Amino acid sequence: MSVLRPFRRIGLALDPGGRRLRAELRQLSRLIDPADRVLDLGSGKAPYKSMFVHRQYVTADLFAKADVRCDATALPFADQAFDLAICTEVLEHVPEPAVTLGELNRLLSDGGTLVLTTPLTWGVHETFDFHRWTDTGLQRLLTRGGFEVETVRPRGGVLLCLGALLLIVPWQLFGAAAGRRWWRTLLFALTYPMLLVPATVLAVLDPLDRQQKFTQGYVALCRKKQDLLPAGDGLTV
Ligand SMILES: C[S@@+](CC[C@H](N)C(=O)[O-])C[C@H]1O[C@@H](n2cnc3c(N)ncnc32)[C@H](O)[C@@H]1O
Repeated sequence: MSVLRPFRRIGLALDPGGRRLRAELRQLSRLIDPADRVLDLGSGKAPYKSMFVHRQYVTADLFAKADVRCDATALPFADQAFDLAICTEVLEHVPEPAVTLGELNRLLSDGGTLVLTTPLTWGVHETFDFHRWTDTGLQRLLTRGGFEVETVRPRGGVLLCLGALLLIVPWQLFGAAAGRRWWRTLLFALTYPMLLVPATVLAVLDPLDRQQKFTQGYVALCRKKQDLLPAGDGLTV
């Protein structure tokens, strides 16, 4: 895989779906107060950390290197410990997503923000991959988890989706075994740049798809629901 690392870097930089996701997150990051405490759950390589230049940014992951190693179903943080939680492309890997949302809700301050992304049109990835959600499904899950959903936005339409799928073809055919067979590496190096051109054209044309029913996935922005009655203000008999 080390031979293909430069391609992976180029791919991540140019991949139209990835670019769209970064753009969505950058836009959301501007809405966040600079003093907020941030948790990146299932952080992986924490690719969005630089967008959230806050005083406290905690990464948490079960399998990847992180500040805190923990399972998304039992988070070792105090109630209301964070003002913003970022959870990108993680929920599909958690067997009980409602439990994880309950945990995120618990550790967010009242009115705290959750930025969550999940894929819809993407292959099975990582060791455990359990779920896919539509916008309606995601909205329902989040609402039941105690969040007020502000937006659930598709990450592009059918053309962007097609472009991203095109670029994954060389990885699927030649990527995994590239380290072992030189000719696979060669085929990868030939096909990838070729597909980059149509993928980029598709990305440019993507705004033509106004329906965005076929999308790579969704970005959700939600707030923790505030209690209707503040503590101690309950009715007494
Ligand atoms: C597809 S990666 C996404 C990484 C990163 N958030 C991103 O957007 O690039 C999924 C991440 O979730 C982590 N993960 C999977 N299951 C988990 C669990 N039960 N608890 C905590 N982290 C988990 C994996 O280790 C991996 O880093």
